[in-house]
Amino acid sequence: MTTALIILGAGLGTRMNSDLPKVLHQIAGAPMLVHAMQAGGSLDAARCVIVAGYEAAQVEKAARAYDPDVTVVVQDEQLGTAHAVAQAKTALAGFDGDALVLYGDTPFIRPDTLAAMVDARQTHDIVVLGFEAEDPARYGRLITQGDALDRIVEFKDATEDERAITLCNSGVIAADAATLFSLIDTVGNENAAGEYYLTDIVGLARARGLSATVVECAEAETLGINSRFELAQAEAVFQNMARMTALEDGVTLTAPETVYFAYDTVVGRDAVIEPNVVFGPGVTVESGATIRAFSHLEGCHVSRGAVVGPYARLRPGAELAENTRIGNFVEVKNAVISEGAKVNHLSYIGDADIGPRSNIGAGTITCNYDGVFKHHTTIGADVFIGSNTMLVAPVSVGDQAMTASGSVITRDVPAGDLAVARARQDNKAGFAVRLFEKLRAKKAKDQ
Ligand code: UD1
Ligand code: CA
Repeated sequence: MTTALIILGAGLGTRMNSDLPKVLHQIAGAPMLVHAMQAGGSLDAARCVIVAGYEAAQVEKAARAYDPDVTVVVQDEQLGTAHAVAQAKTALAGFDGDALVLYGDTPFIRPDTLAAMVDARQTHDIVVLGFEAEDPARYGRLITQGDALDRIVEFKDATEDERAITLCNSGVIAADAATLFSLIDTVGNENAAGEYYLTDIVGLARARGLSATVVECAEAETLGINSRFELAQAEAVFQNMARMTALEDGVTLTAPETVYFAYDTVVGRDAVIEPNVVFGPGVTVESGATIRAFSHLEGCHVSRGAVVGPYARLRPGAELAENTRIGNFVEVKNAVISEGAKVNHLSYIGDADIGPRSNIGAGTITCNYDGVFKHHTTIGADVFIGSNTMLVAPVSVGDQAMTASGSVITRDVPAGDLAVARARQDNKAGFAVRLFEKLRAKKAKDQ
């Protein structure tokens, strides 16, 4: 069965008190919309349609950055969830398969849960994701008989008895796409809110002789975000889950509560992550690598046996081969550090290739930017770069070459050569003693 995702995200999100559309607020380095796309993506969906409204162009840009094939449709007026889903009808014209409706502000639905819904679709026409609410508040209530779902009643329209029901609607619904749109065509807005409720399709389907059922999930999965407070809570929920998952996957976290993961961080078994490490998006750390305390990583790849930090910064395009060393106060950006190479102290390595086993001395800087353009530095194998070398790119240093400390290297260094590019030292005999005497005499006279 092929699936199309319909993700609702037209809401303004007034309570966020923000110029940014609600679904673009981030959790673990990705817009909450992307979390919903990622969860839906676990079904290998053939299509993904996002219903945007407020600042739709911005929503489209963010969605496309994650999945270039996504379709974004605009709901100009927010007339209710059924009206929102109806906006996806044209985009899915001719689509033969299931539609799964998700909310862009509900980021924690688990792939297993969606898979259970897909399973339940084998036996039922409509599948609704429900949960037992600790405090059912204003959620829609699921009216069931055995495993059959009869209808959904919105809180505003519910009787006292119906409000006593604790099995609630998460909003996630799966049905055959053609059936879904044909049911939506018949949804009216004669209700307490004057909105077109998606939830009405259940009662309408049952009246047509179609079947409906509920798949239940934990309430935590249905957590929706409406305010900055809930966003902060969601971040904490995400981080706790990510830490637990990492520990279960065999990663050592010496102080899990201080490590921050991104939505897509991949850490291999037996990797060690010391306290206060922060992962931005796009990081892979392979098995057996060590990330020492207070390091910040994003868009990079750390291979087996590499040791990073403490206090290291790996920026996008940092590619660390096996057994490399990146030490304290070293920044690496868009650079390949080949096997066994070391950059141990106080350096900036950007737009560079460092060959195998080369040692980059303390304070080395690749001067990659001329104020307008970026330039590349290439360092061969088994090179020794002396401390405080400035490598003014574009420049290359050949295999087994050396640079003298304090050199400003502006020309290529051939393999095997030693480059010295600094003023020659001149020792002036006895000059220091005479100078001190003169200065001290001046101080005594001034007092
Ligand atoms: C909805 C459900 C309710 C459920 C609850 C779970 C309906 C009628 N009610 O209620 O049963 O318990 O979610 O959180 O479906 N949206 C649009 N366009 C619209 C209206 C909404 O895109 O015209 C989007 C919102 O941005 C949001 C989602 O749909 O992401 C849900 O809308 P919201 O107004 O929050 O629905 P609830 O009243 O909470
Ligand atoms: Ca809501």
